[in-house]
Amino acid sequence: MTQMTQMGRLLEKKVLFFGGKGGVGKTTCASATALAASHAGKRVLLVSTDPAHSTSDIFEREIGPEPVELLPNLWGLEIDGAIESKRYVANVKQQIQGLFGDHIMKEANKQIDLAASMPGAEEMALFDRMGGLIRGEDTRFDLIVFDTAPTGHTLRLIRMPELMEAWIRALSRSRQAMLGIEQDDKTDPVMISLTGRLEGLREFRARLLSPRVSAFLLVLVAERLPIEETARAIEQLDEAGVSLGGLIVNRILPESSPDPFLQSRHAQEVVYLNEIDRRFAKHTRVRVPQLPSDVHGIKTLQTLAEILVPNGDA
Ligand SMILES: Nc1ncnc2c1ncn2[C@@H]1O[C@H](COP(=O)(O)OP(=O)(O)O)[C@@H](O)[C@H]1O
Ligand SMILES: [Mg+2]
Repeated sequence: MTQMTQMGRLLEKKVLFFGGKGGVGKTTCASATALAASHAGKRVLLVSTDPAHSTSDIFEREIGPEPVELLPNLWGLEIDGAIESKRYVANVKQQIQGLFGDHIMKEANKQIDLAASMPGAEEMALFDRMGGLIRGEDTRFDLIVFDTAPTGHTLRLIRMPELMEAWIRALSRSRQAMLGIEQDDKTDPVMISLTGRLEGLREFRARLLSPRVSAFLLVLVAERLPIEETARAIEQLDEAGVSLGGLIVNRILPESSPDPFLQSRHAQEVVYLNEIDRRFAKHTRVRVPQLPSDVHGIKTLQTLAEILVPNGDA
């Protein structure tokens, strides 16, 4: 099987993540893959979780915290921890609205605002929204493509269900001990809510770790630092148990050029390309050429989509 057909096969998954160092082409490759999948008849949601949102740039359209249709079969969504956290807070406040008297409500709202301003609260809210999407809560979509923030942040998010499960288990144990109730208690609203969250997290984790459902693609360019970062990311994904869909080696220079500067750049690049082939031999690798201009608008994106997933492959 050629490397290209393997990219086509990835479109059969439910969730794809694109990760890698800043500037290597994550947004570009995620967008091109999402476009290719939409052409192959999938209903695709392209989700940007990078605070430096640039999917709206590529598609030359305003994209916000709710899915917007960009093209037939293709939707875009930009999520952001600050907005998700505000939304979460408003939601909780609304849920308890009217349950208590004025005095208690005022105190409760103060506590909620305090919790929302704690370090990590925004990341948690972002993670919560991603979890919902990964669990397939929005049934409009066949495939969700995540254009993620630079590697470290995303790997932390991927470990989050594991951490949160442990934390919620501890909370529910202390609740059980306090009220003298069983794990499967159906009378205490706090226990019901904790059990519900635990189930949600389990499902999130199961889908994330299932190679049938999810795959992670690492984008890099043929340079020293991105190669090292890729090696580290592969190790960490492996530890977390997430399956690696492959590597996209982006922005490869043309092989023959009369220009001595480009010739020299190319010779340097060949050294790194060989290193990539050697070090990552057991992973799928797809090479993407450097295009003559930046990738902006549907037309250039289309060119790239055809390079990544040639017609008829999906
Ligand atoms: N194959 C390519 N050919 C030409 N320009 C590219 C290519 N891939 C990415 N770019 C350009 O490189 C810049 C960084 O790409 P981007 O996808 O935004 O990176 P990231 O999301 O990893 O930060 C953008 O201006 C994009 O248009
Ligand atoms: Mg980006």
